[in-house]
Amino acid sequence: MGGLFHRFRPEGSAGDGPAGEWSIPIPTKGARVRRHRLHLPGSLHLLGSLLLVAATGLFTSGAAPAPAPVEPRPLAQVIPAPASVTEAGPPYRITGTTGIRVGDSPAARAAGEYLADLLRPATGYPLPVTRHGAGGIRLRLAHDGPYGAEGYRLDSGPAGITLTAARPAGLFHGVQTLRQLLPAAVEEDTVQPGPWPVAGGTIRDTPRYPWRGAMLDVARHFFTVDEVKRYVDRLALYKFNKLHLHLSDDQGWRIAVDSWPRLAEYGGSTEVGGGPGGHYTKEQYREIVRYAAARHLEVVPEIDMPGHTHAALASYAELNCDGVAPPLYTGTAVGFSSLCVPKEVTYDFVDDVIRELAALTPGRYLHIGGDEAHSTSHADYARFMERVQPVVARYGKTVVGWHQLTGASPARGALAQYWGLDRTSDEEKAEVAKAARSGTGIILSPADRVYLDMKYDRTTPLGLSWAGYVEVKRSYDWDPGSYLPGVPQDAVRGVEAPLWTETIENSAHIDHMAFPRLPGVAELGWSPAATHDWEDYRTRLAAQAPRWDALGIGYHRSPQVDWPAA
Ligand code: ACM
Repeated sequence: MGGLFHRFRPEGSAGDGPAGEWSIPIPTKGARVRRHRLHLPGSLHLLGSLLLVAATGLFTSGAAPAPAPVEPRPLAQVIPAPASVTEAGPPYRITGTTGIRVGDSPAARAAGEYLADLLRPATGYPLPVTRHGAGGIRLRLAHDGPYGAEGYRLDSGPAGITLTAARPAGLFHGVQTLRQLLPAAVEEDTVQPGPWPVAGGTIRDTPRYPWRGAMLDVARHFFTVDEVKRYVDRLALYKFNKLHLHLSDDQGWRIAVDSWPRLAEYGGSTEVGGGPGGHYTKEQYREIVRYAAARHLEVVPEIDMPGHTHAALASYAELNCDGVAPPLYTGTAVGFSSLCVPKEVTYDFVDDVIRELAALTPGRYLHIGGDEAHSTSHADYARFMERVQPVVARYGKTVVGWHQLTGASPARGALAQYWGLDRTSDEEKAEVAKAARSGTGIILSPADRVYLDMKYDRTTPLGLSWAGYVEVKRSYDWDPGSYLPGVPQDAVRGVEAPLWTETIENSAHIDHMAFPRLPGVAELGWSPAATHDWEDYRTRLAAQAPRWDALGIGYHRSPQVDWPAA
């Protein structure tokens, strides 16, 4: 197991006010392109665009530099890199007469409406979503295609664009590709001049791994439903398909449980640094689940046990071995709390919590934590996991646990989330590999590669560094398929980027730590190993920056990437 307290803030400021003194400015959406913005009613937009294009051509010698001509972006410039790209023929141009054709499928209609909602503000075009019609953008489900559960095909030419997939998720991911092929200004929320070309050719695309996750720790600091939705939108752009919510920890319990109401009411009433914390009502949690599902992300809720449970122990005296509830905790230490393994009431508690959470969660998985149980003996840990895993199964879910679960007996079909690092002992890695060879699926979240809360370098104002500094190249440049020795390739289910929030307090903080590393994790999870290439990736990554500007994403301008001028 990992070293005791190794997630202490190492800078010697492990006090209770981690990030407060650092202010990451929240960028105004589109701040950097606002200079060029046209403010035209939709009906005047086409005329306005034409005039602007004409004026640009006529007055190129004037004082104001002319905007560069809008060439279609290469089809291969997408992140994550598509499996196969063939550029051919002239582009398609989205214009004021473009329609989105979805046939009779409600799923195609949903993807079409989502696409129209994305494109309307910046293009100013009506983009009607209709069953049939000539030309335009066609979205179709074809159950016989070689697309799998999430793959798609995009065909683009002067006559139109066709997106084909076997499943709704494939159409949705195809829509994200189409979005990235358009100029970055398409992300603006007011009308932009265009034009809106999409290069001609074909993309055939299907993911390498079925698990492409991001975890948000809403326990150390609480994040509102809107903040979570904002992150979900960023994840959707890069084809993530799992939103892992770390719903409980020592500093806070964030989900309402009717049978144990003090968990959320009292246990959720603070956070790291002593702020007011918060929790999701059941309806709010359902709202997150719905919002994520509409973007083809499955919510994986985590209740971390038997350690990381101080907020629960503070809420109910009977959960403590000594029957005394400790005061709430707002610091950043780890490894000091444990549910009382010998007490029967512990299992009543676990049963109630898992039952209620499973009932709220349409997804297949329930994460039971299991990391850093340093205040639980190994025998108690194994005993606890033996009793708790069947409870998850009883309520119809599949167990996910941090990889320490492989030190007990993982249930059949369980997934273990590996969060070790280069210096993790061979013995610990071998334990994970052994479980993988016995059928436990592995999700890779190596802390010194994809923990988004690690500082980029010494100067990063937020984050921790117990796993070292993690710059963009280090985060991107590894292979999930061969990462852990002795783990069979088919045991690797995918990758996940956790974002722990001891020092992270708001959406601007999230963006600063996630960008630019998050898209690299998406690529590791989606793209074939054959496309992996740091030099090519860093060019594609740089090309994302104007899109982030337009979306109001404040990112770390890593010196490893040649960003466009700010
Ligand atoms: C972890 O970082 N304790 C999973």
